[in-house]
Parts: sequence; C-alpha cells; structure tokens
Amino acid sequence: MFVWFFCRNGSEWLNNRRLMNKLLLNGNCNWMNDNIEKYTRKCTTQWSEDIDKSGKGFVEINDLERQLYRWSINVLCSIMFGESFDRIDSNPRLEAKLSEFTDNVHKIFTSTTRLMSFPPKLAEALNLKRWTDFEENVDLVLQLGNGIVDEFLKESPCDDGLVLKMKEVDMSLDMIKRIFVDLIIAAGDTTAFSSQWLIYLLSKNEDIQTKVREEIHSSNNWMENPYIKGLIRETLRLYPVAPFIGRYLASDAVIGNYKIDKNSLVLLSLYTSGRDENHFPDAEKVLPERWIRNENGELTLVHKAHGTLPFALGGRSCIGRKIALNQMQALVAMMTSNFNVKYCAPYDVDITLRLVAVPDKPILLRLEKI
Ligand code: HEM
Repeated sequence: MFVWFFCRNGSEWLNNRRLMNKLLLNGNCNWMNDNIEKYTRKCTTQWSEDIDKSGKGFVEINDLERQLYRWSINVLCSIMFGESFDRIDSNPRLEAKLSEFTDNVHKIFTSTTRLMSFPPKLAEALNLKRWTDFEENVDLVLQLGNGIVDEFLKESPCDDGLVLKMKEVDMSLDMIKRIFVDLIIAAGDTTAFSSQWLIYLLSKNEDIQTKVREEIHSSNNWMENPYIKGLIRETLRLYPVAPFIGRYLASDAVIGNYKIDKNSLVLLSLYTSGRDENHFPDAEKVLPERWIRNENGELTLVHKAHGTLPFALGGRSCIGRKIALNQMQALVAMMTSNFNVKYCAPYDVDITLRLVAVPDKPILLRLEKI
C-alpha cells in the first residue's frame, strides 16, 4: 500500500516528503541499524529457544507470514520510538494495544484487496459492505495509531528515534501521528512479503545459503556485503511485491513505438521487466553474483539494471527503501548464521497477486540449529 493516506493535498505531501527524505533516505541512516538488529535478533533468539524447548534440534514454522509481519512492525516502531519502544515488554497494556493496532493494519490489506475487483468509487456510491468495511477499518487504524503515539510519548517522552528527529525539524505532533500510521501501513506487508520470498529462495537453494555463511564469516560488515545485497536484489527482481507501478504522464510521450497522450495512465510491469532475458540473461535463475562488478566495474550478467525497480524511482519512490533493505540484510545474516533453513512443504510456491504479490500457498520451513 503506497500512498500517504493522510496527507490532505499535494503541497502538504511535498513539504513532508522533503523532510522525510532527509531523515530516511539522504545522508547517513546508520542510526537505525541498532534498532533493526535488536528486533531481528529477538526473532532469531525466539526460534533458537523454540528449538531448545522442542528437544528435537529443529523447529517447524507454519505461520511465517504472521511472524514476519509482527517483526516488520516491531522494527518500525523501534526506529520510530527508540528506547521507549524497548520498554514495551514490561508494559502488557501497551503490548496489547500494539497487537490490536497491528491486527487492524493487517486487515486493511484484506479490505483493500476486496476493493481491487470492483471500482472503489462505485462501491462507495452504492455503500457496499466491502466499502464500509474498508472505511471503518481505516478509521479504526487511524484512531489506534494516534493512541499509540500518545501512549509512547506519555510513558516516556522520546529522546531518541525518528520521533525526536521529526520534532527537531519542527513537525507538528498531529503530522507525526499521521506519518507514523502511513509508514506502518506501507511497511508491514511489503517488507514481510519480500522477506518471505527471500527466505523461500534461501530455503530452496542450499548452495546460496552456504555461500552466504562463508561471506558472513569472512567479512566483518555484513550490512555492506555485496553477495548478501545481490541476493536481496535478486529476490526483489524475481518477486517484486509491487509488481506494477502506475504514473500519469505529465506530457505527451513516445514509449516504444507508441505515442501516448499527456495525462494517460501508464502501468509498468516490474514483474515482466525483471524476468526479461533482454535485461537479465538467465533471467529465471537466482544469481546473487549477478550484482557484483568485475575488475572493470561492469555487471556482466545484467544488460539493463533498471529492468528491476522494486522501490520505483523519482519523487514518489519508496521512502522506506533503506529501512527495508537493511532489515532484509539483517534477517539473512542472522538466520543463516544460526540455522540451516530448510523448505519442508510437499509443494512449490508460486507468485499470485493480491494487493501486493504474495505466495499462493504458505511457505513451510524447518529451522535446524547449526
Ligand atoms: C521490500 C519492501 C518494500 C518495497 C518493495 C516497497 C515498494 C514501494 C514502491 C514500489 C513504492 C512506490 C509506488 C509508486 O510509486 O507507485 C513505494 C512507496 C512507498 N513506500 Fe515502500 N516498499 C517497501 C517497504 C517500505 C517500508 C519499510 C516503508 C516505511 C518505512 C515504506 C513506505 C512507503 C511509502 C510511505 C510510500 C509512498 C511514498 C510517497 O508517495 O511519497 N515502504 N514503496
């Protein structure tokens, strides 16, 4: 879900987007890595403990979607509220509020998916249940999200995290709340589903897992490791959670052999383009080394790098790109250094389109302690 739901108009969006670019995309964003690592480690530690408790040396995971969804929300809240969020474990009331909020954000995904098969304006005019469900759901999420920001600020006024940085650039509390809800809605599904695909590819390719492990042992900074970054680029190339990007043309244009009028809606299929042999030789293969440059600085296994644009490009591109990439890097590094990741369902999984591109069947995993 990729809109600033709660920005009232274009100039309000532009002002806030400029401020948020400074905080989340431009310059050094390493400040958020501690939060990302802390909550990713929490996830892998929990799996380790489950293995110990089982007494079998492994654990099977059949609710990966739910677990990764909660992980991506936790990471974002930790980036947002800094140390205040770390105290959530000792506050069952806040923990319950966050769970309710998370569940309802997840429902937006379902209610929006139901609107995809019917013109939303008509659904609104006819007051259909799929429209009223969506409306009620969004209102509730906004109300709960506002409440959560208030609670965190009341419990312990933020002296770190993104909230502090937003206050420092003079953002109003009302705008901070609206942006918080927007970021959560946009981050939850996208990162969780992309990470599911990432784990799926790892679990189906033992040689890639072994290579990732070697890379982690031989490098002291896995956040900058080109092989791990290449694996993530391959995941997003083959399984772009946003498989289409839409743009209204600002002026008449010729695209390919077609003359297209100003204001036409143009859809780019990232899925098709990412799997096009003209852009990527052996396009269906997962080749993380594709993205490692040779001594002349060339990418020999990539004909057109812009054939994959998982976060789009330009002024409306993804504001959470750095958060998502660092989060996925942390997940690969911590999972492969702690576990053998095995795929254990009796079927292969394919990609299907709901609001975003998702696995058509659950991904079942077995984690064995190394
Ligand atoms: C792998 C994970 C992610 C993918 C593949 C992804 C992809 C995208 C894409 C393709 C767009 C642009 C859509 C368009 O232009 O039509 C977008 C926009 C957006 N994304 Fe992400 N995203 C991811 C994670 C995140 C995260 C973690 C956040 C929040 C921290 C986030 C927040 C947003 C927001 C707010 C927008 C709208 C930006 C604007 O219109 O100014 N995304 N995302």
